[in-house]
Amino acid sequence: MTSEPKTVFVGLAGLGNVGAGVYKNLLKNGNLLTDRTGVRIQVRRIAVRTPEKHTELQVPEGMLTTDWRDLVNDPEIPVIVELIGGVTEAYHLVKTAILARKTVVTGNKALLAEHGHELVALAEREDVPLYFEAAVAGGIPIIKAVREALIGNHIKAIYGIINGTTNYILTRMSEAGLSYDDALGEAQVLGYAEADPTLDVNGWDAGHKAIVLAWLSYGAWLRPEQVHVEGVTEITQTDLRFARSMGYVVKLLGVIRLDDSNRIEVRVQPCLVPQSHILANVHGVMNAVAVYGDIVGETLFYGSGAGQNATSSSVISDLADAVDNLANEAGTNNGFIPQGHYGSCLPVDQTVSRYYLRLRVDDRPGVIASISKIIAGHGIGILSLQQPEVDPSADADLMLMLHQATYGTMKKAVAEIAALECVQTTPVLLRVESLKGRGA
Ligand code: HSE
Repeated sequence: MTSEPKTVFVGLAGLGNVGAGVYKNLLKNGNLLTDRTGVRIQVRRIAVRTPEKHTELQVPEGMLTTDWRDLVNDPEIPVIVELIGGVTEAYHLVKTAILARKTVVTGNKALLAEHGHELVALAEREDVPLYFEAAVAGGIPIIKAVREALIGNHIKAIYGIINGTTNYILTRMSEAGLSYDDALGEAQVLGYAEADPTLDVNGWDAGHKAIVLAWLSYGAWLRPEQVHVEGVTEITQTDLRFARSMGYVVKLLGVIRLDDSNRIEVRVQPCLVPQSHILANVHGVMNAVAVYGDIVGETLFYGSGAGQNATSSSVISDLADAVDNLANEAGTNNGFIPQGHYGSCLPVDQTVSRYYLRLRVDDRPGVIASISKIIAGHGIGILSLQQPEVDPSADADLMLMLHQATYGTMKKAVAEIAALECVQTTPVLLRVESLKGRGA
């Protein structure tokens, strides 16, 4: 006769989109998890702000509380899942839980980007695991991949589409001709965007994830102010059309890599990606992360980057590790903790790429000459130039593809161009990425 599986109780803080997914999917696949881990994972208490909002889930009476301390203070609960989002309260919760020597599972990338340095060190000191698979790229097991499967590699570069909402917006704008607002509205209805989508569309959700990936890869917690982040709010149909006409698509890309002097480059920007590249063909809410290791070469991880089920799958995988660790006394099988700082941070002005520059200009003689003079004056070469014909009385769109330059040089050139009398609106400057691994 087989013995009864052990039960490990879990405290769930937050019953929003992802929290509700964790609760439902633990019920749905609970037996499977027990078969595989030998442990019954049972949610014992759930902390929510407004219990009346959660009648639909039919949570057993007495399980809900409005105070997460009830979870942390319960001696029967060794595992806390933090899915309340935000930074201030979540920081307090996670820190208190670690100090109470609970295992913590979180999906909170903003929390890690702000306080990861301290919380990881604290968890190490208290010898409790801190898991965060759901913090980056939703359902894609990218944390495990970098932390465990690629442990023997120097990571040369990571290029990621790591925000589902913005990828959804760009896809719908590009393929269905939707306005930015309509595309964002759809993403919100589908549950991809954060409760406040500001961090999605201004690029910082991806920025926080890039900071976590950079730490895993290079052992350094970059401060948010060291990371250059731009969002998608300024992307227009005109730019999507120009990009397409030249064989590119626009993607919000997280770039994490080392230069030849071991300086870490971390940035998130809308970029032109060649249509032939696999990342250009990642549509809708899907995320994809290309990781270049010095031994393995190029690897690619693809999957749903947001949404209830996909993200809860990652939380549940952390829970399986957590209960396995607790119940089977396997020691601290938490994956490696990156140590040390492999290099310094490369200031964004020193980062190098090719560029797309679009200008709204007067359509009259000498305009192109004055613009190209400035570009040449900064030592930047022009790869190609387009100016679609318009009615002679109208302003014209002028689009230039430019050779490699540092971002700092490019910005100076663009500032001078913007000051020309013939330039009517703020120039649009986008990077053009070749997506090559560095020395991989
Ligand atoms: N709102 C995020 C996204 C999901 O759109 O990718 C969680 O980070």
